[in-house]
Order: sequence, then structure tokens, then C-alpha cells
Amino acid sequence: MVNEILNKLSVKPLILSPMAGYSDMPFRLLCRNMGSALSITEFVSTEAIFRNSKKTIDMLRYNDNERPVVFQVFGSRPDVIVESCKKILELSPNGIDLNLGCSVKKVASKGAGSALLKNPELVKKIAKAMVKNLPVPVSAKIRLGWNSQNKNYIEIGKILEGEGFWAVAVHGRTAKMTYTQPADWEPIGELKSKLEIKVFGNGDIKSYEEAQEKMKKYNLDGIYIGRAAMGNPWIFSGQKIENLSFTERLPTIVEHMKLMDIFYGKPYGIINFRKHLLKYLKGIQFSKKMKNEIIEITNIEDLKEALLNFNNLLENG
Ligand SMILES: Cc1cc2nc3c(=O)[nH]c(=O)nc-3n(C[C@H](O)[C@H](O)[C@H](O)COP(=O)(O)O)c2cc1C
Repeated sequence: MVNEILNKLSVKPLILSPMAGYSDMPFRLLCRNMGSALSITEFVSTEAIFRNSKKTIDMLRYNDNERPVVFQVFGSRPDVIVESCKKILELSPNGIDLNLGCSVKKVASKGAGSALLKNPELVKKIAKAMVKNLPVPVSAKIRLGWNSQNKNYIEIGKILEGEGFWAVAVHGRTAKMTYTQPADWEPIGELKSKLEIKVFGNGDIKSYEEAQEKMKKYNLDGIYIGRAAMGNPWIFSGQKIENLSFTERLPTIVEHMKLMDIFYGKPYGIINFRKHLLKYLKGIQFSKKMKNEIIEITNIEDLKEALLNFNNLLENG
């Protein structure tokens, strides 16, 4: 059980926050090896699973070394959510996480993700149905509310706890807040003080130290780290990226690239790796021409060679 596994850890967990388009098996495994305490998949549509979409079910592929593995789902129809979760339980995840935080139009306009925060009655119905029908631990990821006039995180947290969810992760923004406004951690601490179940905090964490500081300040059970892990899986290990030379970073980058190549096949693995590569190269000085050359490579061997050459250039000034 996920809860018991986390309880056995000697430190409170840092966890890779689910991110569509990023939290696939390769990146999760890499972060897990660096110290992320569990793997949560990018969210998948329960409506798509209900229709047996192979593409969606494929997004749930994981490596056994990632365990505990939690599948994150979104949807708004209790019966569809339950039936879809039953289907994907055949893939043996350690838990299911319900998304109550996504604010993108495609999801929220259909009443799912953060739009559910506007409908606590429906949240209760979904939570009840999930706990009653699913033989695995169920958790949720929420926001503070729909907008600043409707911050109902306490109400939602209490509902989820009351229905038997084992944990709730809180992104310290409302659905209507943009990323340019800083996440608010005080409400996350407040929710923690009002619930017995695990409460994880999330929003704008930039370093391992900041995660520890927030965890302590707000007495949290763990921290989710999202964007700051892009191009910096070392964040989970406590190693400071600024102290790692490119030579020291290279084995991890190459490992990521190999995992992508195997996971997605040729040439998509390397094409899908580009967005990660850009993050890995962020802050490193080199010509635009060279950057473009590296980014356009679609073959793993060529890319490896280009990165090694690039590293030699950096090393030799
Ligand atoms: C590209 C991207 C994709 C995301 N996809 C998901 C998702 O599938 N499920 C989810 O719960 N949150 C998703 N989020 C939100 C993040 O998990 C996290 O809550 C948010 O980015 C704030 O944390 P951070 O400041 O550490 O990035 C996504 C965020 C980004 C930037």
C-alpha cells in the first residue's frame, strides 16, 4: 500500500508532480532513481479509457522499478470514472489519483479537473464511488478552489478525507490564477492542520532546500515538485545542479535519452526528448547555431556524439 511504503521512508517524501507531456515512464524512472518517492502518471481521461482508447491506455505504461506507481485520472461522471479505473487496475498500479486541479479548457470545460471544485456534491459522489469500488488506495490532487471568491480547499479536503481518500496534494493556486502569480502556501498549511490524512504541498518549489523548508514550516507530509524538475531530476537527490558540471550531468541526460528511444521507438523517442534536452541545456552558453544543430538530430547515436563533442568544447573552454 502506498501509504505504508511512504511511512517506512526515513525522510518525508519529495514526489515528481504529474505533468502531461513530461511525466512519462522515462522521466518518472529517472526522477524515481534520483529520489522521487513515488511515480504518478500524467493524467489520463476516464472517458477515453471507457472507450478503450489504446493511445490513452498506452500512456499508463510503467517500469516495475518505479513502484509505487499511481495512475492519475480525470473525469466527471462517477460511473465512467469507476468503470475506467477498474479497467486500468488490470495493469496493477499501487493507487489511483483523481485530478481536481487541471484548469486547461479542454478538461475544465467538460466539468472535470479543477471544474469539479465548483461542485462539491459531485466530488463527494465520485469520491464515494471510487473508494467503494476500487480495491486500491485513492488520493487526489486539488487546487485552492475555482477562483479567489471560492476557495473551498477545506471543504473539498474534508469531503475526500470523509470518503476514505488516503492523501490529498494541494497546488497553492486557484484554477483561475495564472502561473505568474505566486503559489500561496498558507492555505496548504491550514488544510494540513485540519486533516488527519496525508497532505502534500505543491507550487513553485525551486530547490531541494526550499522543499525541506516548506515541509517543515507547514508541517506537511511531503512535497510535489513539477516544473523545477524539468531538466533537473537531480533536485530530488539534494545535489545542486549549479554544482554539477556538464560532464557530471551527461550520464543522466544520456540515460534519459536512451530510455526515451526505447520507450517511444525511433524516431519519436528522440523527437519527444527535444523538449527535455532544451531544459537540460538551459543556462549553458553556446551558439544558437550549435543549439539548433543538436536539437534537430533524430538519431540517438548522433545525438550522443554531438553531446559528447559539445561537452569537450565546454571542458576545453
Ligand atoms: C506542462 C504541465 C503539465 C501538467 N500536467 C498535469 C497533470 O497531468 N496532472 C496534474 O495533476 N497536474 C499537472 N500539472 C500541474 C503540476 O503538476 C503542478 O501542480 C504545477 O505545475 C505546480 O507545481 P510546480 O510549481 O512545482 O510546477 C501540469 C503542469 C505543467 C507545467
